[in-house]
Amino acid sequence: TQIKAFRKTLLDWYDAHGRDLPWRRDHDPYHVWISEIMLQQTQVQTVIPYYERFMATFPTVEALAEADEAVLMKAWEGLGYYSRARNLQRAAKQLVEDYHGVWPQTVDGLKALSGIGPYTAGAIASIAFDQPVPAVDGNAFRVFARLLKIDADIAQPKTRQLFEQVISRIIDPQRPGDFNQAIMDLGSSYMTAKQPDSANSPVKAFNQAYLDGVEERYPVKAKKPR
Ligand code: ADE
Repeated sequence: TQIKAFRKTLLDWYDAHGRDLPWRRDHDPYHVWISEIMLQQTQVQTVIPYYERFMATFPTVEALAEADEAVLMKAWEGLGYYSRARNLQRAAKQLVEDYHGVWPQTVDGLKALSGIGPYTAGAIASIAFDQPVPAVDGNAFRVFARLLKIDADIAQPKTRQLFEQVISRIIDPQRPGDFNQAIMDLGSSYMTAKQPDSANSPVKAFNQAYLDGVEERYPVKAKKPR
C-alpha cells in the first residue's frame, strides 16, 4: 500500500542519510528529553555543543535534580528562554522525588512533568519508549501538510489534533522514533519552509502538493486578525 511504501522509502533514506547527532547515539529518555527541550527554540548546530557540555555537567536526572541553580543557569547561558532550564530542574525533581527515578512511558504520563507538552511527550514516548505516537512540531506540520495537501490552518490550536490523527495512521509501528526523527530531517533538508528541494527529495513521489505544483501554499497558516 501507499502507507507501507512511504514508511519504507522514508526509513531507508533515514538509515542511509539521517543525521548523526549526539542525542541519537542511544535511546535514553534523559538524553532525548534534554535534546528536545534545547531544540525547541534553538537550531541543531547551536544545540550540539550545549548538549555535550550539559551531559558532561549533569550526566543523570539525579545530577540535574541536585544541580546548583547558578551552575544550571550558567550551563544554559546563551540558549535563552531560561524558563526551559527551570522547568527541566523542576521535572528532574519530580522524577526523583515522586517517581523514584522511573520514567512514565506514555504521552499522558510524560505530560504530567513540568515543561513537557504534547510535542516533547510524543518525541520521548516514540524515541525512548517505542510508542507509536506522533511528535508534531513545525517540521511535522509542514511535511505532512505538503505530502497530503492538508488545508487546515496550522495557526488554529485544534489543528494539532487533526495532524496527530493523520500521522498516527502513517507512523511506522515498528520504528516510531526513527519515523518521527526522519520527518524532522526531511523538514530541515528537502522540505524546508523557504527553499524546499522537492525535485530531489526521497519522498517526492508521495508529495502531493509538489506533484500538483502548489507546494508554496502549504502549510496553510492564516494571518492573525488584528
Ligand atoms: N528537532 C527537534 N527534535 C529533533 C531531533 N530529535 N533531531 C533533529 N532535529 C530535531
